Amino acid sequence: MTVEDGYFVCEAGALLDGGKGVRFPVIAFGQPATGFVVRYDGKPFAYLNRCAHVPIELDWKQGDFFESSGLYLMCATHGAVYEPDTGKCAGGPCRGGKLRPIPVVERDGGIWWQPDDMVRAPRDNTAIQ
Ligand code: FES
Repeated sequence: MTVEDGYFVCEAGALLDGGKGVRFPVIAFGQPATGFVVRYDGKPFAYLNRCAHVPIELDWKQGDFFESSGLYLMCATHGAVYEPDTGKCAGGPCRGGKLRPIPVVERDGGIWWQPDDMVRAPRDNTAIQ
């Protein structure tokens, strides 16, 4: 496997539209962090798990990112609401902000994320979850 192939996150079938997301470990801007992937409108979307309001993780319980309608991602801390397909703030204290996207593909029955200039894999890719 080469870096261009990306890093395996989960089986494609594990990701349901508007359902639970899957977290994965990353090094973002030189610091250990997590990314997450969700499925929306049939496609996977991945972001750095960091709210645009205060830089902390979004999840309600680990892996819960959608609010109850399944149409928006919502931060558990102060209720910032994001569009799942663009990461743009759609309401709440993230006003004008945006989640940091992480490239993700669905391939061979799996979901794979790809590193970029600022988000890369931990050395052994299992260090932080
Ligand atoms: S930290 Fe996310 S809304 Fe405040």
